[in-house]
Amino acid sequence: MGSTCYISCCLSWKRILGIFFLPVILSGFASCPKRKDGKVNPSSCRSNWSHLSPLTLKKRSEGLERMHFTLEGQKFLIFGGSIHYFRVPMEYWRDRLLKLKACGFNTVTTYIPWNLHEPERGQFYFSGNLDMEAFVLMAAEVGLWVILRPGPYICAEVDLGGLPSWLLQDPKLKLRTTDKGFVEAVDKYFDHLIPRMIPLQYHHGGPVIAVQVENEYGSFDKDEKYMSYVKEALLKRGIVELLLTSDNEKEIQKGSVKGALTTVNMNSFKESFFIWFRQMQKNKPILIMEYWIGWFDSWGKKHHFKTVNEVEQTVSELINHEISFNIYMFHGGTNFGFINGAVYFGKHIGVVTSYDYDAVLTEAGDYTEKYFKLRKLFASLSAKPLPLLPQQTLKTVYPSVRPSFFLPLWEVLRYLNEPVKSHIPVNMENLPINNGSGQSFGFVLYETSICSGGHLQARVHDIGQVFLNDTILGVLNENVKELYIPEFTKCQLLRILVENQGRVNFSWKIQDERKGLIGPVRINNISLEGFTIYSLEMKMSFFQRLRFANWRPVTVRYLGPAFYQGTLKADSSPRDTFLRLPGWVSGFVFINGRNLGRYWNIGPQETLYLPGVWLHPGNNEIILFEKITSGSHIYSTGFPKL
Ligand code: GLA
Repeated sequence: MGSTCYISCCLSWKRILGIFFLPVILSGFASCPKRKDGKVNPSSCRSNWSHLSPLTLKKRSEGLERMHFTLEGQKFLIFGGSIHYFRVPMEYWRDRLLKLKACGFNTVTTYIPWNLHEPERGQFYFSGNLDMEAFVLMAAEVGLWVILRPGPYICAEVDLGGLPSWLLQDPKLKLRTTDKGFVEAVDKYFDHLIPRMIPLQYHHGGPVIAVQVENEYGSFDKDEKYMSYVKEALLKRGIVELLLTSDNEKEIQKGSVKGALTTVNMNSFKESFFIWFRQMQKNKPILIMEYWIGWFDSWGKKHHFKTVNEVEQTVSELINHEISFNIYMFHGGTNFGFINGAVYFGKHIGVVTSYDYDAVLTEAGDYTEKYFKLRKLFASLSAKPLPLLPQQTLKTVYPSVRPSFFLPLWEVLRYLNEPVKSHIPVNMENLPINNGSGQSFGFVLYETSICSGGHLQARVHDIGQVFLNDTILGVLNENVKELYIPEFTKCQLLRILVENQGRVNFSWKIQDERKGLIGPVRINNISLEGFTIYSLEMKMSFFQRLRFANWRPVTVRYLGPAFYQGTLKADSSPRDTFLRLPGWVSGFVFINGRNLGRYWNIGPQETLYLPGVWLHPGNNEIILFEKITSGSHIYSTGFPKL
């Protein structure tokens, strides 16, 4: 479809993604009536959104080449901001959306992470913090348009770019291509996901004004048929809103697909690029799908930030040039649990737990200087005053916690699910657990008996602590593949505890992201056999079972992987806080069974966000899984240190 057809096709829909141009740009939606289940009914909302009517695409009168989005025949600039519902406790969704609206934005964008929605093949979850529909409808209630980015690949610093790890079970399956195994899995997922998106679309009375096809395919570019396949997969299931692709500036052509608007991801305003872009994609409006307002952090690296002035200047330029934009991220939130991805530039490095991103709101949803600068800018463009600022979410400091009980890892093995017995080591994804979907996240412990020392060789992803019985011998990783085991008498237990530190979420590397022990383990070139393999997925049910364990009182500092238990005392209305763990080395924190994410003393992140809504008034169980050695206390603070 050529560009002319593209426009006329859009016109024939009588709607193209549009936003009221200033001064109506910031006008709000009326609130929507709710159904009995408390959810908003999109079609009953529509009658309240009386200012809405079909969108069209118009040429600027004074410039033939410059196009803009329109809504009901009026110019419309997208002022979008990204919030990922899966990175924010659902109790805080409304607060964050209200803050987006009160800042002067008119659109929220979110990815949809396949790996979280289908953690086991054929098992779909769309409730609680994964209730994407509730999030979208709440956005409508607040008065925001929505752009959905359903992938199937999303990147987003999420484990394997949001693809489920069970796809890695078949080493021949080619991710992000029209390989049969991959598209069959995509089709099944879309059969569950897309019907949920249908009623949320603008044409059906919902707030969804555009849907993205895949994500930055230009930088992957392995199969020329793939993008059309994904586009058709959306269309044939009933997606009728504007389709778009999103790529970084060097790869926008490779990532484009006919029938979808090409949009760009970038970190600054570059006039020369936009001149070229207007030529490249004639007669269509420009949308920056991701204007990177900050950046994510990785373990052992520096904390990223971007100055307020730079952000203010770029956004002003975009507005002056009538360029629509989406700020990535308006509010980043947190990589709770094990969801973080990783980068690979010659070395695997996990993304930290916080997804603060130096965004417009902090990880904990607090206002920043960027927020106030942008609000001032947007307010100056708005005919109506912006909505009042929602109140600050108060933070608190709890009394420090001294874990009084502990359990060495070796003593909790009996509280885990039945171990897998296998002749050879099996990687995490191929373990015969979780209804055949393998293990996605966490740790795996491999045990086998050895009767002599020597040169141990193994391929470990990402980090493996090697023990002879309970004694640590050393650490293996993707670059350290050998270790010397001194001679000993009598047969002993060789144990390798492997941590998955997050699968790479970007580039061809995703194809090769199996975790645990990959391939044989040898001593002096002889392959070891007879493995007992424990999965440490650290799910809620495991912590429930652990309550019945024989916890030991903490007396001296313990060396080795262990669980530590303490009580955090909250008052009658618990508030947010940030945990500090001086003296502890590397591990995870669980509050009432919820995984707050990884801590690691190599930084840069020094505090872990603990949302107040996850605390009960009174006593709260806090459990640390520490891999190396214990600290003494767990402190809280009112301020994050990232
Ligand atoms: C790209 C991707 C996003 C995210 C950013 C970096 O633009 O599209 O998903 O990974 O990079 O934060």
